[in-house]
Amino acid sequence: MSTDVEVRARAAKSPRAIAEMFGDIAPRYDLANSLLSAGLHHSWRCAAAADLVAASRRAGEGAPRRWLDVCGGTADFALADLRAAGPGAGVVCTDFSAPMLRVAKDKLRRRDPAGRIDLAQADALRLPFRPGALDALTIAFGIRNVADPRRALGEFARVLRPGGWCGVLEFGLPVLPAARALYGLYFNRVLPRLGGSIARGRRGNAYAYFRDSVHTFPCGDAFAEFMRTAGFGPVSATPFLFGIVWWYLGRRR
Ligand SMILES: C[S@@+](CC[C@H](N)C(=O)[O-])C[C@H]1O[C@@H](n2cnc3c(N)ncnc32)[C@H](O)[C@@H]1O
Repeated sequence: MSTDVEVRARAAKSPRAIAEMFGDIAPRYDLANSLLSAGLHHSWRCAAAADLVAASRRAGEGAPRRWLDVCGGTADFALADLRAAGPGAGVVCTDFSAPMLRVAKDKLRRRDPAGRIDLAQADALRLPFRPGALDALTIAFGIRNVADPRRALGEFARVLRPGGWCGVLEFGLPVLPAARALYGLYFNRVLPRLGGSIARGRRGNAYAYFRDSVHTFPCGDAFAEFMRTAGFGPVSATPFLFGIVWWYLGRRR
């Protein structure tokens, strides 16, 4: 049954409803991710960050140095970015949810003792950076939640230097019909119950919202086209695990 906050988040992707939902599930977010993806979510971020760095090296530029991870949540992608980029790189991790950033802060005390990742509370639609300030920008499982994804992509293009890298990791739907049918079973039967019991917020089941938002968000070439229109090109779209997750990589024109 949908609660008030789910209905609001689904209908209008109201930033306040989205922020409340993630604030509610923040303390259990990492555990839920690990259980629901059987630990695979870490490998997706690591593969994505490594691919971005490899593309930059192939272009003869070495690893990017000034990174931003948007909708960074509990800082897992920021950590993967830092590991892939190696010494000399720094990452800013932004999110608009203070509870998610609190979990990130605790984690970084242990995982980033040198303090190479900075946390900042910011909306993806209004990033606190001057134009062209960054070499690389990543976002994992966040763009689907932003009220206006096209505007967010435009904001990403604004803060990246020309030639800067934009990497987007997001859920999608498998391409093969058989894989899509299997995923549908998991999605409709298993995930809402499991996800609901692990990550039920005070105001409802965030995973019902998750299921609906994945089904309505563009993936594959459709999303790559969003990126091209926003100022990136060429853009590659790579399916992970039959297309359950997609990795998009583009360069700011
Ligand atoms: C599914 S979580 C992903 C967190 C993290 N990137 C990861 O890989 O686990 C989505 C995050 O996006 C954040 N978010 C959603 N809309 C946002 C916006 N407009 N501005 C900033 N953060 C936003 C939420 O607070 C939440 O932490």
